[in-house]
Amino acid sequence: MTITINGQPYDLPADMRVSLLDLMRERLDLPGTKKGCNQGACGACTVLVDGERILACLALAAQYDGRSVTTIEGLADGEDLHPLQALFVQHDGLQCGYCTPGQIMSAVALSNEFSRGAPSSVTPDLDVPATPNREEVRERMSGNLCRCGAHNGMIDAIISYLSEYSR
Ligand code: FES
Ligand code: FES
Repeated sequence: MTITINGQPYDLPADMRVSLLDLMRERLDLPGTKKGCNQGACGACTVLVDGERILACLALAAQYDGRSVTTIEGLADGEDLHPLQALFVQHDGLQCGYCTPGQIMSAVALSNEFSRGAPSSVTPDLDVPATPNREEVRERMSGNLCRCGAHNGMIDAIISYLSEYSR
């Protein structure tokens, strides 16, 4: 069984109990994805699987045989940061930085969700694609908690990204 992470194939562990988060952090030397609560409450472990966000602490690695995972280590292009990474820095969207990888991966997925017109629980009209405003972004980022309180800068960074890069 094989999993692809950031374009590189890895063998899945024989032990079916290993979470995707522990596989990456403890066995594959990919510590960019963070372990906060380890119980699905904080969003620190958010990664993309085939473009959709999941919580890696709640995922068994074995479930992802044949799937493609993207982590924070897979976003930058060499020395060039992904635009969301650069905008988080520019807008002071981080303090200690522990929640930041999960926040950024969630924001990448959020952008994809707007692009395909997916509604959220605050979208007023389900027949009209959601407007990427602050209320929508706050709702869609509500699964990612920041104990430092850097949320306002993150929202600014994401709004800026959506206005500049999404269509
Ligand atoms: S570490 Fe996965 S949600 Fe907190
Ligand atoms: S920047 Fe410290 S937890 Fe979010």
